[in-house]
Amino acid sequence: MMTIRDLTVQFGGVKALLSLDAVLDHPVCGLIGPNGAGKTTLVNVLSGLVQPRTGRIDVDGTDLLTLTPTQRVRFGLRRSFQTEQVVEDLDVWSNVLAVLDHVAHDRRNANAEVGRAIDYVGLVHVATTPGAQLNLFQRRMVEVAKALVGAPRLLLFDEPGAGLTEHEASHLRRALLGIKDFCGAQVLLIDHDVDLIKTTCTQTLVLDFGQRLALGPTNEVLADPAVRRAYLGAED
Ligand SMILES: Nc1ncnc2c1ncn2[C@@H]1O[C@H](COP(=O)(O)OP(=O)(O)OP(=O)(O)O)[C@@H](O)[C@H]1O
Ligand SMILES: [Mg+2]
Repeated sequence: MMTIRDLTVQFGGVKALLSLDAVLDHPVCGLIGPNGAGKTTLVNVLSGLVQPRTGRIDVDGTDLLTLTPTQRVRFGLRRSFQTEQVVEDLDVWSNVLAVLDHVAHDRRNANAEVGRAIDYVGLVHVATTPGAQLNLFQRRMVEVAKALVGAPRLLLFDEPGAGLTEHEASHLRRALLGIKDFCGAQVLLIDHDVDLIKTTCTQTLVLDFGQRLALGPTNEVLADPAVRRAYLGAED
């Protein structure tokens, strides 16, 4: 569970987030909003790349902003980037195993844990294939597998569905939906694909110009006239 209080981020004259309050307590939460709304900025604050001007974020009762980025990884925070971070000359197995270098783990179980994550995302058949030879979908699933090892607690995915075919997106959807059962972690999903949000996230936060436009059950939020006007481009 994540509680955000009075979070403000300023870049020069731009207020990327403005006194944001939100409680996200569902297993898979959506984060949507128009371009420049502040979505990636929020993920950057959570992972420690950006320092907020004001505010506090508690994750499962821990004051996240007091931790260094490395401590946050150890705490169980994982993120993916809008461009995938896959090491080209390491195979899939080694890409996932490398995450465990940064977190406390039981070395005897490392291989079993990596195998379980690779199996979960459906990449067993390319486990020994180098990153450079993977297609976009496989690279995205490597990012998901990397997020699943080392006792994760909160997973932040920034547009994992961008550019995927419908079939690939449905595979991603199933993977996202099962994460809570797989490892107990909460997921925060940013995506412009409203169908993906609708079918995976039971709770959604909508940002607009750095402010909270709506927060609640995804169906209600997507039907909100203010959200439809700002984000979905509806006239009514
Ligand atoms: N490092 C930075 N320096 C200056 N301004 C920034 C920086 N990062 C973001 N911004 C500005 O902050 C605002 C929010 O940007 P952010 O990247 O969080 O939006 P977003 O919701 O992720 O958009 P998109 O859907 O396009 O990915 C924008 O006005 C952006 O130009
Ligand atoms: Mg973004």
